[in-house]
Amino acid sequence: MSVTVRVPAKVNVRLAVGAARPDGFHDLANVFLAVGLYDEVTAAPADTLRVTCTGPDAAQVPLDATNLAARAAVALAERHGISPDVHLHIAKDIPVAGGMAGGSADGAAALVACDALWSTGASQDELLAICAELGSDVPFSLIGGAALGVGRGEQLTPIEVGGTFHWVFAVADGGLSTPAVYAEFDRLTAGTQVPEPTASPALLAALRKGDTTALADALGNDLQAAALSLRPSLADTLAAGTAAGALAALVSGSGPTTAFLAADADAARTIADALAASGTCRSARVAVSPAPGATVC
Ligand code: C5P
Repeated sequence: MSVTVRVPAKVNVRLAVGAARPDGFHDLANVFLAVGLYDEVTAAPADTLRVTCTGPDAAQVPLDATNLAARAAVALAERHGISPDVHLHIAKDIPVAGGMAGGSADGAAALVACDALWSTGASQDELLAICAELGSDVPFSLIGGAALGVGRGEQLTPIEVGGTFHWVFAVADGGLSTPAVYAEFDRLTAGTQVPEPTASPALLAALRKGDTTALADALGNDLQAAALSLRPSLADTLAAGTAAGALAALVSGSGPTTAFLAADADAARTIADALAASGTCRSARVAVSPAPGATVC
């Protein structure tokens, strides 16, 4: 018997970042939107904990105990006094270290898969608490849809979304380390008064209405300058997508994936083709949002 869970990627449509806290984390007002690029995690009984991965970027995925899928299995097993003897297989389609919460997605998916495989019957609140221990973005991967995340980004309030949004994601060669991007944010903002992070009411209204034009006007990412500082070539990718008709372009989370909002599915295809031909990214993917959270297949 095995259990497979499908889990989406995310884009941050508004990532407002405050000053570094004493614990090194940053308070956020982080508006997450789940997008229809998916990993699948399959949990099957095994003699010992084991992680395998397939997909174009599989070689970059750590298969040891640091993998968030493995950590999720261990955390759930510990709470329920069982041994985490499970084979977790990750079919990876979300860009690795790309600012789209691919690792977090695998953590949330493994948790749901192990809960079903072991019949642990954990409540949604217990699953969310384990997710928050695993990482700031993991709770959102569990619930999907759209949500405002405050604190480290782990304290979620779901947001209603009134329509479908069409996106293009330009996948870069190589990843960016999230801690390195936050450290660059600290360097760039040193000596300045970093404002309290807040979610923009215009952005929340655009999501509620499903209004693409209004969403394009309200998108923003406070980590973008830091990601561009570490990877200046991303400016060329952003410019190529904008020239191809994107209504808005931004770095996804801590990058280096860049996100382009399109007016409709046809425009998204055109932008993706132009980005792929531009030589400014490794590949371009079309996806729609919102997408459901971690779900047993
Ligand atoms: O929570 P997570 O393990 O995903 O965070 C990875 C890193 O990103 C942290 O170690 C920290 O450097 C940075 N981070 C941050 N503030 C947040 C979330 C993440 O500084 N709110």
